[in-house]
Amino acid sequence: MEDILILGIETSCDETAASVVKNGREVLSNIISSQIDLHTLYGGVVPEIASRKHIEKINQVITEALKEAKVSLSDITAIAVTYGPGLVGALLVGVAEAKAIAFAAGKPLVGVHHIEGHISANYIENKELKPPFACLVVSGGHTHLVKVMDYGKYEILGCTRDDAAGEAFDKVARAIGLGYPGGPKIDKVSKEGNADAIHFPRAKVDESVYDFSFSGLKSAVLNYLNSCEMKGETVCVPDVAASFQKAVVDVLVEHSMAASEEYGFQKFAIAGGVASNSSLRSAMSDACKDRGIAFYHPSPILCTDNAAMIAAAGYYEYINGTRSGWDLNAIPNLKLGER
Ligand code: KG4
Ligand code: ZN
Repeated sequence: MEDILILGIETSCDETAASVVKNGREVLSNIISSQIDLHTLYGGVVPEIASRKHIEKINQVITEALKEAKVSLSDITAIAVTYGPGLVGALLVGVAEAKAIAFAAGKPLVGVHHIEGHISANYIENKELKPPFACLVVSGGHTHLVKVMDYGKYEILGCTRDDAAGEAFDKVARAIGLGYPGGPKIDKVSKEGNADAIHFPRAKVDESVYDFSFSGLKSAVLNYLNSCEMKGETVCVPDVAASFQKAVVDVLVEHSMAASEEYGFQKFAIAGGVASNSSLRSAMSDACKDRGIAFYHPSPILCTDNAAMIAAAGYYEYINGTRSGWDLNAIPNLKLGER
């Protein structure tokens, strides 16, 4: 069978990324131009700045991805691009670029859902992983517990009612003076703290056992910081970070394992930026081991936004016959499984 080479393009938030992936699982190049340093100045992603930076970088990043993969555009089978969810102006840059290249080179265009990309990051390093399995997608914008029934076929079992897990990490990090992006900083400083020092709440959503809620936890941390200030007590940042992180991880693991028991999942994967959190990885790994469930996770570079995951997802969409028209548009609130 002839090799299928997918050029993946990702611009949904603050990373301009392009990648060439062979047959869905072999990464030939994975170029990421991060805007983090720029947005750090403002304490978070500024959408207008993100779009402008994507425009500046996109051609350069794609050229680099083709060069590193030692291929030219004519060798590419199809072009896969994230068309939602994400920041509309940021998404539009990738979508317009992908359409232009696909049209000019006469290549098929495949629109990819960003979360489908995160889930598919697991295929790259786990060559034996095939659906069905369950996946917890935890990133700056999403917290979804997903049943992966087949390639491209998903059922959402639970999602967040308010803040995403990564958003909670970022907001709490800002409150304790660690800066943006908060997740990696909380992960690091937590190693020096006592996770049982402060008991923060583990929220439950009454009507739906697999849904999440993190805004109460964030408020509890803010209240704790305020009360320390009022009492003139010094805040032990590593203890707050570790206790907060434990509260998030406990809920994520508890919901994931409850769903695994109810649905009888044999395989469990994690994905998204927060999936690179060391405490979540070890807690989820232990919980899966105790239940005889195989546990999968991508390397940190494939957890945070990248285009290899979009190319991997694009490959399965492509071989299943998905093709997007020249009217493909950016859809900021695109639902998983919708086209
Ligand atoms: O997947 P991603 O790059 O972008 C979205 O699709 O949102 O995820 C970014 C999020 C940020 O909120 C960041 O703070 C969080 O992932 N993150 C982490 C870690 N690394 C990144 N959160 C906790 N621990 C980490 N090590
Ligand atoms: Zn993402």
